[in-house]
Amino acid sequence: MRQIQIIITLSLRNVDSCLDFLGTLPKNIFFSPVSVSTALAALSVGARGETHRQLFSGLGFNSSQLTQTDVDQSFRTLLQTAKSDDTSKGTAVFVDNRFKPQPEFLEVLKQSYFAEGFNVDFTQTTESADTINKYVETKTNGKIDKLVESLDENTVMYLISYIYFKGRWETPFDPQDTREDHFHAPNAKVPVQMMYMEEDVDVYYDQAINTSVLHLPFNGTHSMLLMLPDDMARLENAISPGHVTKWLKLMESRKYEIYVPKFSIKTSYKLNNVLTEMGMADMFSGCANLTGISEGHQLAVSEVVHQATLDVDEAGATAAAATGFGIMLTSYVMYPVLKFDRPFMVMITERNIENILFMGKIINPNI
Ligand SMILES: *[C@@H]1O[C@H](CO)[C@@H](O)[C@H](O)[C@H]1NC(C)=O
Ligand SMILES: *[C@@H]1O[C@H](CO)[C@@H](O)[C@H](O)[C@H]1NC(C)=O
Ligand SMILES: *[C@@H]1O[C@H](CO)[C@@H](O)[C@H](O)[C@H]1NC(C)=O
Ligand SMILES: *[C@@H]1O[C@H](CO)[C@@H](O)[C@H](O)[C@H]1NC(C)=O
Repeated sequence: MRQIQIIITLSLRNVDSCLDFLGTLPKNIFFSPVSVSTALAALSVGARGETHRQLFSGLGFNSSQLTQTDVDQSFRTLLQTAKSDDTSKGTAVFVDNRFKPQPEFLEVLKQSYFAEGFNVDFTQTTESADTINKYVETKTNGKIDKLVESLDENTVMYLISYIYFKGRWETPFDPQDTREDHFHAPNAKVPVQMMYMEEDVDVYYDQAINTSVLHLPFNGTHSMLLMLPDDMARLENAISPGHVTKWLKLMESRKYEIYVPKFSIKTSYKLNNVLTEMGMADMFSGCANLTGISEGHQLAVSEVVHQATLDVDEAGATAAAATGFGIMLTSYVMYPVLKFDRPFMVMITERNIENILFMGKIINPNI
């Protein structure tokens, strides 16, 4: 139980940081902290040294209190208990035919992250992207069908985590009560289909941040919390795991008239910058230490992509998300390039003594 709590806490901690970086844009935001965390934790299995330390602290862990094995076991518990009719979570690893990761790395991914393994030919960039996208599409019941846009040709491995949730409201809205109404978007009034019910619901008004919180339970163990602030920026800056705990504890059931819009949103993010800002820069650079994946190759993370969807209607809600980590060989691409393709000077000297034997300037090598 403590382990689950660790993960939930860290997921929310990631909400903080991610909101900081994604939240400044005046557009819809929706993502799955647990999907990102799962993929980061799976990657940390193969990370060493400073790269590992950065991943651990980005995930909200303290290396002097938790070992990689503790973390692996927590995720094992999380992914195991998540399996039910309406929720599925998991990971997969796509490995290039000619690339041989450390067997221990794949073994931990299989045992603790229930990773499914596939061999692909990453030199066929279009086909291998299709293979990954088809897999994610199947696992998210068609909700996320193009996670990978294009693949770097030096990709040797692609790590995926996905989550799919479909819940029915414990108390559904009556479609007959749904009416066209207006939604006050930042710069416009937009039409929406507004659902309605008059029911005993759990509500909490958080005076410290002037926010009303509505708790809509799904039939089962999941819930949706909807937060309506007077000032969105204030809520975004304040929200923390402590708030969620407090709200759930202090909620009171009262009869309310509830209006919630029906909507479907889809988001797509490239997280390289967000994760770099969160202190996980090394994995993207020539300093990446992924020797737990392969000792013989210099590897780095080429891209982290995340997509999510949310559909809310009278019957319930469906949410899906997937995170992908592209891992590539950097031997070819990380060397700085120096190309003498414009006029240059040349010198021939004797080493150790500053004796210039020849010197010249080349402005056209063809003449
Ligand atoms: C990776 O980290 C390990 C453990 O700290 C260290 O022994 C090794 O030298 C590092 N390798 C590279 C390539 O940085
Ligand atoms: C990590 O844990 C150690 C020992 O419990 C503690 O001294 C240290 O302050 C913690 N570090 C962080 C960043 O929380
Ligand atoms: C909350 O709303 C009340 C009443 O509108 C207002 O007086 C107060 O300043 C608000 N508090 C914050 C923290 O925004
Ligand atoms: C909730 O789940 C129970 C048990 O699966 C089922 O009997 C009941 O009809 C469900 N209620 C709704 C509103 O879906």
